[in-house]
Amino acid sequence: MARKNKRRIKITGTGFYVPDKVLTNADLEKMVDTSDEWITTRTGIKERRVVSEDQATSDLAVEASRIALQNAGLKVKDIDLIVVATSSPDTIFPSTACWVQKGLGAGYVPAFDLSAGCTGWLYGMIVAEGLILNGAHKRILLVGAEVLTKITNMKDRNTCVLFGDAGAATVLEESHDESGMLSSYWKADGSLGDLLFLPGGGSRIPTTPETIAQNLHYIHMKGNDVFKHAVKRMGEAASEALKSAGITKEDIAYLIPHQANIRIIEATGRRLKVPPEKVYSNIHKYGNVSVASIPISVHELYEEGKLKKGDIILMVAFGAGFTWAAAAYRW
Ligand code: UT7
Repeated sequence: MARKNKRRIKITGTGFYVPDKVLTNADLEKMVDTSDEWITTRTGIKERRVVSEDQATSDLAVEASRIALQNAGLKVKDIDLIVVATSSPDTIFPSTACWVQKGLGAGYVPAFDLSAGCTGWLYGMIVAEGLILNGAHKRILLVGAEVLTKITNMKDRNTCVLFGDAGAATVLEESHDESGMLSSYWKADGSLGDLLFLPGGGSRIPTTPETIAQNLHYIHMKGNDVFKHAVKRMGEAASEALKSAGITKEDIAYLIPHQANIRIIEATGRRLKVPPEKVYSNIHKYGNVSVASIPISVHELYEEGKLKKGDIILMVAFGAGFTWAAAAYRW
């Protein structure tokens, strides 16, 4: 949707946190039948971060949130809603957002989780926009955090080389200048859900010793199929977001695709005819960190001084569901 009435939300603070432990491709060579060469050429990943046994998703989210609040110049008490996008919650219930509220000492502010696979943070931006522009909330803490390594079968080479753990947080408020979210686009196709899913542990297949023996408590993915849909849908979403913002690819300072695979990232850039130097990638450092990948990228670009006032970024994601979304944003 285009922002016809010109009221916009903006990001007033960003932060991210990754665990200290680094898992390199060389480490993975010792765990499964794989090679640094295969992982690098097929995915672009060189290393990823892994939580310690006692760290959960909300722990990463709390660390990232403290940094985002500090960068926004705000205190925890200034926040009036917490939304956590995640597919790897601390617990099925309460929500990870409630654990984050507790961890931050955020009082009684409402808190809920949003489940939209790797697209969750962009979905959260669109939800937050509605809540801020209709006057329901003033300052929303939107977090994307995942501990994917605990729901990945570390003996399955098809998935264990891909995922990493990370948390990223953003503070969102109404914009009072030209900056902010210019347009958005979001879609889902539930008919393809079983191409990327975690089959066990829910009400469809409750956990039993048998489901554990069958590894149903881990991520299952038909990588090749997901790849094809991802490239097509990310191209579609990015084009639609550009169109509804009334801008063209030439207006973009950076294309920020969800970091699932360097080949998907590059293909999305090619589809949109955005030159490679404008396509942001950090997948070599973190692997696929799902909902955290776009807000980490935004934070890095800003911290490295690569985003200047007035620059337009185009963010686009695809994930389990399937879900896909994009947003054009003026810094
Ligand atoms: O985050 C949002 C959702 N996720 C994605 O968007 C992920 C999308 N998919 C992908 O990124 C890619 O499909 C993968 C990286 C998962 C796989 O790459 P691919 O080029 O699609 O490989 P493939 O699945 O077609 O497998 C090719 C070969 C197979 O061997 P055969 O059957 O040709 O003998 C696999 O068994 O590569 C083999 N293989 C591996 N070899 C070494 C699969 N994983 C590995 C591995 N190391 N880790």
